[in-house]
Amino acid sequence: MKVRHFLSLLDLSQKELLGILDRAIELKKKPINSIYTGKVLGMIFEKASTRTRLSFEAGMSQLGGSAIFLSPRDTQLGRGEPLQDSARVISAMTDIIMVRTFSHKTIETFAHYSCVPVINALTDALHPCQLLADMQTFLEERGSIEGKKVAWIGDGNNMCQSYMNASEQFGFKLSIACPEGFEPEEKYLLNRSNINISSNPVEAVHGADLVVTDVWASMGQEKEQSERILQFKNFQVNHELMENAAKDAIFMHCLPAHRGEEVSEELLEDKKISMVWKEAENRLHSQKALIEFLLG
Ligand code: CP
Ligand code: NVA
Repeated sequence: MKVRHFLSLLDLSQKELLGILDRAIELKKKPINSIYTGKVLGMIFEKASTRTRLSFEAGMSQLGGSAIFLSPRDTQLGRGEPLQDSARVISAMTDIIMVRTFSHKTIETFAHYSCVPVINALTDALHPCQLLADMQTFLEERGSIEGKKVAWIGDGNNMCQSYMNASEQFGFKLSIACPEGFEPEEKYLLNRSNINISSNPVEAVHGADLVVTDVWASMGQEKEQSERILQFKNFQVNHELMENAAKDAIFMHCLPAHRGEEVSEELLEDKKISMVWKEAENRLHSQKALIEFLLG
């Protein structure tokens, strides 16, 4: 049977994605479930992480398996061993692998040579695991997201592009507001009738059921941080901006957050509107459901 990978939300059907969300909600009620005794998850991190590492490692342990953390600092990956060689060797000794890296091409090449499922745990282009957690959170808090309106405010980055994929797969309208020059890549604009891109946050948030943002400078863009703070200064999500959203709108952020930059401290801490802690916790449950799906 052909190995299934999860490099993007588009690798799974709509039905499969919804099945994973339902299973995640089920697993949340009964976290310990040792169905994968002896199974090993390889975790390759070329960028920092708190939530992703913890959720995969804890999740694998709750499923009865184990996880091995591999960093380029202390593996041959960091000393230039070719990706195709590393992929063949690592996949021969593990059952499933997650990769957090820079270029999306890297994970595509890795998956091509891997004989076990590969999960995208963030690239410069996409962060599909975060979207599983976000979609689970919306489902739990407000029900189906189909036909709803989501506003993305800020950088047209990996999270924004994953929301564009999600809009297609989960059937919601997506209104994106980015400063000029920071728009997402055109190739992620799959369905122009469902996605609108502008530079006006107030218009984008108008009537939205979910408002989402992310840091203004992603990992790898640290040098641009101070310049970006100036360019993004009108794109903070705060209570004033949320006034334009639907009455029971919720706020999400994949975290880590920069209080006072892309989100105000007050909004981030507003328990009625901000779902960020539930969203972070749901990384654990939704990824366990994903691992189950991929391992079969
Ligand atoms: N949201 C997210 O992926 O967090 P980490 O970078 O801490 O893994
Ligand atoms: N856009 C952010 C997401 C972090 C989880 C980054 O790539 O750094």
